[in-house]
Amino acid sequence: MFFTPKGLSFFPESASTIASHVDALYAFLVLTSAFFSLLIAFLVVFFAIKYRKREAPQLPPDTNIAGHGGGLILEIVWTVIPLGLSMIMFVWGASIFFTESRPPADSMEIYVTGKQWMWKIQHMEGAREINELHIPVNRDIRLTMTSEDVIHDFFVPAFRTKADVLPGKYTTEWFRPTKVGQYHIFCAEYCGTKHSGMIGTVFVMDQNDYDAWLAAGSGEGSMAEQGQALFNQLGCGNCHPSVVNNNNGRCPNLHGLFGTTVDIKDQPSVRADESYIRESILYPDAKIVAGYENIMPTFKGLISEEGLLKLVEYIKSLGPTSGTPTGAAPGAVQTTGSEPQTPQQRRMSPQAVQPPTAR
Ligand code: CUA
Repeated sequence: MFFTPKGLSFFPESASTIASHVDALYAFLVLTSAFFSLLIAFLVVFFAIKYRKREAPQLPPDTNIAGHGGGLILEIVWTVIPLGLSMIMFVWGASIFFTESRPPADSMEIYVTGKQWMWKIQHMEGAREINELHIPVNRDIRLTMTSEDVIHDFFVPAFRTKADVLPGKYTTEWFRPTKVGQYHIFCAEYCGTKHSGMIGTVFVMDQNDYDAWLAAGSGEGSMAEQGQALFNQLGCGNCHPSVVNNNNGRCPNLHGLFGTTVDIKDQPSVRADESYIRESILYPDAKIVAGYENIMPTFKGLISEEGLLKLVEYIKSLGPTSGTPTGAAPGAVQTTGSEPQTPQQRRMSPQAVQPPTAR
């Protein structure tokens, strides 16, 4: 489309499935705008000459527009065509927006923490990196992102995708890289003195190369394992059961919680997603599970953003989607609702109860 001498290009490389769609829409917007800009500029000049001021003998015959003879059709045409064009832009843009904001269900999960002025990235398998993101080619990648301080924005031009990274909240971004290579990461939200230095590189690799890279990882165990260690260290398990069929009546069971709908006292029920779990750790009194008392202390200031992500990943690993039930009989899973407890269940403290073991 453009003459691009080596080293100078008007467009970044196109390296994700969505990139060509974004470029096509962009080209449509530019070409439509260019066409109408030229048309209007031409007509301004044309009519300025055609209807210039003249002396009485040179005046053209009087055109009668009182009855709106040809004027009506003209008005309909110049109303309907722009309406049609803008509706095309709206529907096309909205469809790309919806595609970009809905990660496919089986996406590979990676966690990103923004901080003045670096990107900290954590893989579920445990590998960690700074200002670098290694991913396999032709896989859907979903980033779950948060910030330790101010608003940042994770932008990979070659993937044509970006999303704000906010303190106190999780946002997501997804893409499917189509080409092995190295691509720039930028922070696309002004975030202080060294905003322009908050950059990094995405390494898109063959699956084999990626597996090898991952195997050379941190040796600290997977994120869920690190989350479990933190869970134990903070004493969460003293109250929250994390195995099936074990309700103490004091704290909701976390097994099989993730992704389910939770009944909340005096509020609408919520879906147990990343943001809900984060909020429940930092602001336990914001949403009390129906049937439970407001007894949990806040852990605000005691856990880093990365620690929170590990806890989220641990709770996710308890199911129901990715967790492996710990050997309970089918149908024995209890929800964490407000169903009555038997006296025996009430008496059982979590420490005293052994997880049911698989035979
Ligand atoms: Cu971070 Cu700009």
